[in-house]
Amino acid sequence: MNELARRLGIDFPLVQAGMGGVAGVALAAAVAEAGAGGVLALYRSRPDTIAACVRQMLARTSRPFGVNLIPELMDPGALLEQVRAVLDAVTRPVFFVFYGLPTTAATTAIARSGCELLIMVGSVAELRTARKHEPAGVILQGTEAGGHLLGRQPLERLVAEALAASGGVDLLAAGGIGGGHAFRTLYNEGVAGCVCGTLFVATHESLAHADYKQRLLDSGPEDTEITSVFEVGWPGRRHRVLRNRLTAAAPGAFPTTFIGFTNVAGVRHPVPRYSAAIPSEHTEGRIDEMAMYCGHSVRGVTAIVPARQRVETFVAEFRGCFPEALPGFPVQSDGGTRWTS
Ligand SMILES: Cc1cc2nc3c(=O)[nH]c(=O)nc-3n(C[C@H](O)[C@H](O)[C@H](O)COP(=O)(O)O)c2cc1C
Repeated sequence: MNELARRLGIDFPLVQAGMGGVAGVALAAAVAEAGAGGVLALYRSRPDTIAACVRQMLARTSRPFGVNLIPELMDPGALLEQVRAVLDAVTRPVFFVFYGLPTTAATTAIARSGCELLIMVGSVAELRTARKHEPAGVILQGTEAGGHLLGRQPLERLVAEALAASGGVDLLAAGGIGGGHAFRTLYNEGVAGCVCGTLFVATHESLAHADYKQRLLDSGPEDTEITSVFEVGWPGRRHRVLRNRLTAAAPGAFPTTFIGFTNVAGVRHPVPRYSAAIPSEHTEGRIDEMAMYCGHSVRGVTAIVPARQRVETFVAEFRGCFPEALPGFPVQSDGGTRWTS
């Protein structure tokens, strides 16, 4: 459809955000199969877990897909090991999506492999640094975004400044994009692609806890706020979440005791109050007190739907027609929808 989509090997330049605890193989594969960018959240995963996840993806879809890593959560050596674990496991090119600026060692290994690279940034200064890694695209994250925030500018202002400073690199937008119409406006201004998170939390394949999905359905942008309270495990970075009694109180107002348990790869871990971890379908306890990351894009969440439907609706909105206006939509029986116009 455009050069960015061509480089990533996808049909439409919508990329699902890698989201720790939410974006596993089921979600990433479903999005990839629908022709958009499905992305596996690898977060703090160890190399052996990474290799296993990548192999599962390769078995689930023949479409290209992405892998998401977060440099600031790993020391440089461990980040390079994560990258190598991906590269050793893949049998065809994937694309890497870094949250924040990666190390040169990591991007050099990726460039040598022939895989593509996207880097998410929060400011024009970071965009300039990101360009030095020669990525296929740089993702601009505005403060309307759900999850941890890289910068301090709303998307529109960041995009306007970044378009003037792009130096020819393709730009993607993230944060508060609630549907294809919103992306269409950005696209018309010169943005090549977009990254959506919250919209994909609210899908059947997302691993988010059912109560979290329900709260997305019941909430609007005004129910989100930027806070720093969910800092256990990821201190020092503000995040946009759904309001709850922890965000309403002063930081540390409640004791940091365990409020639940979560299962990760078959191991049961206690969840402390103020943990940065999201409540997943493997979590039990005081779900309402946990970190439910949510962007202004929640305005586009009107139902919990299959990921394929989320993609198809988004593309139809982008093209200026509503799903109901398309006879037979969204049924796509061949699994190989093409968005060529
Ligand atoms: C539940 C949730 C978890 C997230 N986890 C990650 C993550 O692990 N890695 C990452 O790069 N970004 C993560 N993000 C941020 C997204 O990359 C993206 O910036 C954001 O979702 C865009 O805003 P939107 O939610 O309004 O679409 C997360 C976002 C959400 C909502």
